[in-house]
Amino acid sequence: MNKYIGVLTSGGDCPGLNAAIRGVGKAAQGSFGMEVIGFRDGFRGLLENRTIRLDRADLAGILTLGGTILGTSRDKPNRMQVGDKMIDATKAIIENYERHHLDALVCIGGGGTQKNALHLKENGLNIITLPKTIDNDVAMTDVTFGFDTALGIATGAIDRLHSTAHSHHRIVVVEIMGHRAGWLALGAGIAGGADVILLPEIPYDLEKVAKAIRHRSRTGKPFSIVAVAEGAMDIANAKELRLLEKKKASVKNKAEKNKVKAALTDFYARHSGNTLRLAKELERLTRLESRLTILGYVQRGGTPSAQDRILATRLGTACADLINESKFGVMVAARGDGAEPIPLEQVAGKRKIVPVDHPWVESARHVGTSMGD
Ligand code: F6P
Repeated sequence: MNKYIGVLTSGGDCPGLNAAIRGVGKAAQGSFGMEVIGFRDGFRGLLENRTIRLDRADLAGILTLGGTILGTSRDKPNRMQVGDKMIDATKAIIENYERHHLDALVCIGGGGTQKNALHLKENGLNIITLPKTIDNDVAMTDVTFGFDTALGIATGAIDRLHSTAHSHHRIVVVEIMGHRAGWLALGAGIAGGADVILLPEIPYDLEKVAKAIRHRSRTGKPFSIVAVAEGAMDIANAKELRLLEKKKASVKNKAEKNKVKAALTDFYARHSGNTLRLAKELERLTRLESRLTILGYVQRGGTPSAQDRILATRLGTACADLINESKFGVMVAARGDGAEPIPLEQVAGKRKIVPVDHPWVESARHVGTSMGD
């Protein structure tokens, strides 16, 4: 009997999602004669039973497309806003899975999706996931697709910022995405030759950043590029956040937990606009004119790089192989040139951040880049 599989994309979009959908779909249909159906807008489409055909013809011509033909959302099966209510949609989602006689559901997403996938696995569904995100912060995989393309975009942007910073003798602070991981800022900072790289994993000392820039200025380079990960913060803020998170993990009582959650929301509200403040402070401390560029969503858009197309295709086809072998409850991780199934329990709730002694960090330091510490 042919197998029926569903596919959805969930979380922030990234380049390579369509290549992955195509990889799963073409291999599932072409090599194993499976029937494939897509669900629109992540777990919400699965709840609302909004589907899209993914026959061979529907999969043609999408390899190079950015975004996701399925649409995406950040909805969670166990906590979904429906009208003005927050509901647990797990039961209704299971009913729709059964209505389509699915043998497996492929969830393509980042860290949040791995958690949601584990939740559905624990509720009896045959789930298999693929790791995507420009942030490269999914645990247990060498790399996620989307990262290489975003790295290229951010590096290209730094290259362009270099010539304008140089011409005007300015500091250019460039904010790079990555959520609470510094992979993208670190990679683009190294590839683009940033003079300072600030990461969430290495809290910075503002005075030391200013000192590095003043030193450049004194030695004939009155311009600097500061590549800042969106989650980077100074030592005091990083300490406050660590304490709040520790508290959140340790408090048991609901009222106390809500209090800590409110404190965290307040913390992030205060932290927003951090890069603009950093640019202004550096101007004050160095007396060099300073400008801020936030790269934002441009890093997530457009056609995937060749690397991401290959990675997404390779993980997508490996996913079809695993479904054929009835191997479920796993994420298809990139391992060297191959792919490896990793139990969702080992992935969900974990985040791959930059080790402070990672070879990329060491290399950046060796070429004289300040890490702000
Ligand atoms: O996870 C990808 C990412 O682009 C992060 O780098 C960024 O912090 C976040 O998504 C932005 O999320 P949203 O699309 O919900 O604004």
